[in-house]
This record gives sequence, C-alpha cells and structure tokens, in this order.
Amino acid sequence: MTKPKVFITRNIFPEAIEEIKKVAEVDLWTDDMPPSREILLERSKGVDGILCLLTDRIDGEFMDIAGPQLKVISQIAVGYNNIDIEQASKRGIPVGYTPDVLTHATADFAFTLLMSAARLVIPGHIASHDGSWKTWHPLHFLGQDIYGATIGIVGMGRIGFEMAKRSTGFDMEILYYDVNRREDLEQKLKMKHVGLDELLDQSDFVSIHVDLNPSTKHMFSSDQFRKMKNSSVIINAARGPVIDHMALYSALKDKEIAAAGLDVTDPEPIPNDHPLLTLDNCLIVPHIASATVETRRAMSNLAATNLINGLTGVSLSTCVNPEVDN
Ligand code: DGY
Repeated sequence: MTKPKVFITRNIFPEAIEEIKKVAEVDLWTDDMPPSREILLERSKGVDGILCLLTDRIDGEFMDIAGPQLKVISQIAVGYNNIDIEQASKRGIPVGYTPDVLTHATADFAFTLLMSAARLVIPGHIASHDGSWKTWHPLHFLGQDIYGATIGIVGMGRIGFEMAKRSTGFDMEILYYDVNRREDLEQKLKMKHVGLDELLDQSDFVSIHVDLNPSTKHMFSSDQFRKMKNSSVIINAARGPVIDHMALYSALKDKEIAAAGLDVTDPEPIPNDHPLLTLDNCLIVPHIASATVETRRAMSNLAATNLINGLTGVSLSTCVNPEVDN
C-alpha cells in the first residue's frame, strides 16, 4: 500500500520525524529559513498532510493548490493566525496545534522579560562589558520594583493564568482583562477582573497574553500607552501586531511608560533599522518564549501525533476546529 505524502516545512525533533516516517512518505524542508511561497505551494501539491510553522501562510490558495486529498494541517505552535481556519473547516480539514505543552515555558519567559526589563538587566550587562560601568552610583541603573507591585494581565487563557500564578510568588496584586470573565480561575487565585482602561491605569506591569485576531491587532496604541503609568513596563510574549510599534516607540522615547520587554515583534524579525532598536528601555528577543529543549521536543511530538492522527483517520489530540475532525 502506498504511504500518504506529507510536507514538513522545517526541521523538528528527529524522533518526531521518525514517527511520521512510519506512516508517511516525508518531504522535509531542511533549510533554517522558511520555504518561499512558491516552494511551499510547489512542494505541497498532492500532499495528504502538512506540518507547518507560524511563518508559513496556510490560506485558501494553499489548500486549493495542495489539492482535495489534503487531510490534515498540523501546526507546531499554539498560535495559528497564519492559518485560515475558516477555509480549512470549509474543506473539512482538521487543523492541529500545540497548546498546553508550551504553557509553562512561555509563562516562565514572560516573567523573565518582566524582570529583565524592570531591572535593566541588558543595559547593565552591556555597561559591564563596554567599559561604561565606572562606579557604584546611588542614581544609576534604577529600575522598577517587582515585589508587591500590581500586574495587569491582558488575556486570561492558559498562559495568562500561569503568569498570574508566577506573580503570586512576588506578592503582586493581580488584575486581569479578558472578554470573558474567568470566575473559575478567580476561585483559584486572588485576582480581579477589570476593564482594560482600569487595568492600564492601575498596573505597574502589563503583560499581554491574547491571541492575534482582527479585534486584538493594535489593541495597544497611543491611547493605551497614554493611560498607563509613567513607571509601567509592558511585556508582550503573544503576537507582535497586538502592539502598534510606532506608538510604542513614541511612548518609550517620551517616557510615557518606563520600559518594554518584547518576545515578539511586527514584523519578525524586526528590521535592524527599526527605531525601537535605538532605545535602551526596549528589550527585544527573537520569539523564543517556548524555546526550551523539553518544550520544543513536546511541541514536535504533539505536532507529529496530530499529523499522524489526521492521516490515519483518528481524532487529533489538539484540534482548532474539532467540528470537522474525525
Ligand atoms: C506559539 O506557539 O504560538 C509561539 O508563539 C511559539 O511557541
């Protein structure tokens, strides 16, 4: 019997690829850079499944060109704003994604960004290397207090809730904004559901954990920064376009807010002439919040399982559109 064909758009953990090879003929894109649109479309023609990344645009055109035999799309990420879910559902294609397995690593890292941005870790590191650290000075490298501060969590999903849990270790007061009030979670942790404006007004730290969709694009722009405290720090480990980057630049430059810690940017990578890169109160790292060995291994394995399940007619372990799943 001929095996189904799959295209895997980047190297993942080898054991995950080996599992897929047991049931499918694998075409693996081994370059570190994503396949171009042309290559993605060409290599996906006639495949039964695709294992893709957030850098691959999987839209209706892709699905048409791949062909009607396409049975499953398996994304190795919890976010799936690169995939047109409506188009996939219309064609009856289940879309897998990788929630849960990356929750702790991502929340750990969001807290790392919070602490690093608040306490000027990177400027301190640079000063100790470039000779500008001349002496201990009472007024140098003054950051923001974390212990006992107020954190405003925007988006109380899995990662937002883990961020809240970490905040309790620092006796922080926890406010959150979410379109859905989470009384179930409020029973587990002392935290208060507030409107976005109240959260911005009262928080010392604002940490973004919403997914990217038309209603969250540029959710943070000049108006929102104006409502924040001058001493506040904003953290984004969700998706870059949730923040209007030029508005953030002005807010940081004009000291409307004290600092930002960004795991994600818009676009990615951030161009090296982007004005945000000229600011020493804007910490930027290359979308690495889930990048630990064990988390990326678990993401690889889960994405492989979803792919294999879709190919073999079994329900996906974690499916974005279960209404069209087996
Ligand atoms: C995701 O999973 O959506 C992250 O952005 C990468 O881990």
